Amino acid sequence: MMAHSYSRVLGTGSYLPRIRITNQTLAERLAQYGIETNDEWIVARTGIHSRYFSTPEQATSDLALIAARRALEAARMDLQAIELIIVATSTPDFVFPSTACLVQDKLGIRNGSAAFDVQAVCSGFVYALAVADGLIRGGTYRNALVMGAETFSRLLDFKDRTTCVLFGDGAGAVVLTASDYPGLLASALHADGSYAHILCAPGNVNGGIVQGSALLHMDGPAVFKLAVNVLEKVAREALAKANMSADQIDWLIPHQANIRIMRGTCRKLGLPLERMVVTLGEHGNTSAASIPLALDVAVRDGRVKAGDRILIEGVGGGFTWGAAIICM
Ligand code: UT7
Repeated sequence: MMAHSYSRVLGTGSYLPRIRITNQTLAERLAQYGIETNDEWIVARTGIHSRYFSTPEQATSDLALIAARRALEAARMDLQAIELIIVATSTPDFVFPSTACLVQDKLGIRNGSAAFDVQAVCSGFVYALAVADGLIRGGTYRNALVMGAETFSRLLDFKDRTTCVLFGDGAGAVVLTASDYPGLLASALHADGSYAHILCAPGNVNGGIVQGSALLHMDGPAVFKLAVNVLEKVAREALAKANMSADQIDWLIPHQANIRIMRGTCRKLGLPLERMVVTLGEHGNTSAASIPLALDVAVRDGRVKAGDRILIEGVGGGFTWGAAIICM
């Protein structure tokens, strides 16, 4: 196959499960365990008003499936033309097979396309997009479906108010295609495993039994500090690779974790806050799904238009972080 100069976003899609949990609902739930939280604290410290939880029957692949169908429809892409499927997730349906293989089957793609998951927690979508971009530009594949999908509600310890108020479930997807017109302009990915302990779900399965804790643990202030530090740096790195300055960016679509971190990065880059897409208030932190969810919202409400330059950036467990610049 011919190598192309770019991979380009042809269509976006997303899905939020039906159960909307407000801060008030969550506060009432925590009160049953004798744990106090309230809407004022959550809004003031995070910017989150609500989040969505999957029903017990919904697995991550089910959320990804709907987001994928919507992206494929928007891209007017024939299912069987998809040659590569990547799901960024830390909440896969199973230990294996990968969620991407399950999505391939549920979509009815029977062409032997490659399918695998990427595990980079909240940076997962940026990682997945960069991997797909490399494989497309190198000429290995022409069309890819790249998703971020999570059921983080299943990892939450509802007795830990410092973490359970932050996360929600959801999925976002993009269809990428080989192109000679500008698409993904640059990306930068990083990790530092020495910080694994500050954000983790440190359990594993041994002999069919979960060993350790499979619940999410986070040292919030430590993550906050690191996030603020690396996000500006990696954004500037991606901009430099694309030979662009921050003022050439039409939209900043950051990982939606905390409004204080998001605003801080936006300000440090010298971008007006109006140029940042914020879905955090309604969606909460959906980990790898947050960026493609926000992108799809902004595409569908008409903010993001063809030719717009978007800076996406994320940070998460691992520790991982990354940024990419997309010309829509
Ligand atoms: O998606 C991956 C990346 N993740 C992130 O980027 C998350 C980064 N971290 C954060 O967003 C923030 O650190 C948090 C939102 C998690 C916490 O905010 P904070 O301003 O760092 O608060 P804190 O942890 O320093 O806690 C301040 C106080 C504590 O009480 P004392 O010790 O001052 O009496 C906490 O016990 O707030 C208390 N607190 C709460 N109070 C009511 C913690 N959680 C809650 C809560 N409701 N849910």
